[in-house]
Amino acid sequence: MIHVRNLTKFYGDYAAIRDVSFDVPAGQIVGFLGPNGAGKTTTMRILTGYMTATSGQASIADFDVFWQPLEARQRIGYLPESCPLYVEMRVGEYLHFRAGLKGLHGRERKQRRDFVMDRCWLKDVQRQIIGTLSKGYRQRVGLADALLADPPVLILDEPTAGLDPSQIRETRNLIRELGKEHTILLSTHILPEVEMTCDRVIIISRGQVRASASLAELVQVGGKRILLAEFDGSVDPTPMRAVPGVDGVESESIAGGTRLKIAQHPDSEDLSPRVCALAVECGWKLRTLRPEQPSLEERFLKIIESETAV
Ligand SMILES: Nc1ncnc2c1ncn2[C@@H]1O[C@H](COP(=O)(O)OP(=O)(O)OP(=O)(O)O)[C@@H](O)[C@H]1O
Ligand SMILES: [Mg+2]
Repeated sequence: MIHVRNLTKFYGDYAAIRDVSFDVPAGQIVGFLGPNGAGKTTTMRILTGYMTATSGQASIADFDVFWQPLEARQRIGYLPESCPLYVEMRVGEYLHFRAGLKGLHGRERKQRRDFVMDRCWLKDVQRQIIGTLSKGYRQRVGLADALLADPPVLILDEPTAGLDPSQIRETRNLIRELGKEHTILLSTHILPEVEMTCDRVIIISRGQVRASASLAELVQVGGKRILLAEFDGSVDPTPMRAVPGVDGVESESIAGGTRLKIAQHPDSEDLSPRVCALAVECGWKLRTLRPEQPSLEERFLKIIESETAV
């Protein structure tokens, strides 16, 4: 649905993004992650036609964003990073006006305006002047605006920035809900948010894509499969090292017991049953056994610190 190939943007002689390529298939929610200044907003502005690229290609629903800009833009709802609004207008009035600009008329225009106000929790403030709204409410007006024309693609630049915790949760739920009908590319700095809402992530750093994978793939890539086994009392890891499929064992003392970090050979099956059987055989009291999962945060930091793409 979103197709990006070798997109490069120079500001003067500074490359804000360089050779960025990725795809977002229809129906997916994709998180666009990266540190400050990585090039997320730049990429999103190019996709939404707010800015041209220096070179490269991009298309939305098979419409080229440079050569068929109108068709491409009609299919996008865009929530910009700092959402420009007409501050002297009232919320309802503004959304009605925007709906008109987006080609909605008559009853449909009113219905759609009421629908988005309802979805973005704006009913209570519909008569309030936008200039007097708090930051979070302005953000909601921006999101409502993006949804007005019911576009198949939503591009949301930090949709939960500036919201209070309960609104963040509501917005995440809304995004998940919207993901059933829309293809969504959203940028964020909040990693748990990605884990809760996204199917895939694209990690960009210093203007280049470093990773593009599902969350499960991302936490696995490059990491050995490790089992963590905790036992009561002291345990000699020697017999564990001899188990077929074990690629190394590290032992450490913990309160009242021992923790073994068991590295599994990449080709071996899950070793948990064998670890349990060995514990029974040796008379070890097994407290817990679980796979060690690197967190998204660890992977993210590793990826953006490494020079090469993953
Ligand atoms: N108009 C501009 N002129 C010159 N440089 C710019 C311009 N806009 C952005 N940049 C630079 O391009 C780089 C990428 O900026 P961009 O806004 O895309 O980052 P970002 O990933 O959205 O960061 P953040 O997480 O802080 O929003 C930054 O180094 C920024 O300073
Ligand atoms: Mg940005």
